[in-house]
Amino acid sequence: MKKQISNFYKKHGWVIVKNGLDKKIISQIKQDLNYISNSLYGKSFEATISYLNNKNKKKLYEFHKLANKLVSTSFLNLKINGIFNKILNNKKPSFYIGATFFLNLIKDKRLVYNYHQESPYMKGIKDVTSIHFPIFRKTNFKNGTMSVLDKSHKISHVPYKKIIKKNSYTDLIPKNIKTIIKKYDEVFINLNVGDIILFHKDLIHKSNFNKSNKPRVCFVGRFTQDYNISKFVEANPKNL
Ligand SMILES: [Fe+2]
Repeated sequence: MKKQISNFYKKHGWVIVKNGLDKKIISQIKQDLNYISNSLYGKSFEATISYLNNKNKKKLYEFHKLANKLVSTSFLNLKINGIFNKILNNKKPSFYIGATFFLNLIKDKRLVYNYHQESPYMKGIKDVTSIHFPIFRKTNFKNGTMSVLDKSHKISHVPYKKIIKKNSYTDLIPKNIKTIIKKYDEVFINLNVGDIILFHKDLIHKSNFNKSNKPRVCFVGRFTQDYNISKFVEANPKNL
């Protein structure tokens, strides 16, 4: 089983570990998110982020920053290290680069990511693996789940075009993306609560427009086994 997961990751640049996470831990995160949103805005977390996105984007930004500090999202709890060892088929320790909640808001184009690789964001670091898992409900095509270009990690790092958008993420889109799309199959990542996807730094992926009536809240993180992480300083994508 371990070997199968590891081989799939190497071949495809991504792998889903079904029920890889302890549901009790995700319930704790969910409970904490609802607790802070109820105490601040009298609403559930999902209702609060939709409300703030419409009413006050600055407050949404601050609220998001607060949620990111929750101890329940600690990787000591999530036992990610064991999952990495399985996928990467080794016993090396993994180092934490960063993590955040990803908010795919309802019918909102602002926080949707275009096709990109993670590698340009982390120049000089080898072997970056990203994780992604849902908190409140399953992810699918309708709620804008991420999609990946299967096996595209094999082309390694591609030059990118930087697009700075007002009040949104800075896009670092692979330069020849139209040609690349034709060569690789797009796979939509369907995850149940408890499932986790791991993907390679060179895998081309994006998030999609959420057509459902609930936001898609996921937790995302980046890890490495490269000791150079000790020298790494995260740059603002606008300056890359
Ligand atoms: Fe990404």
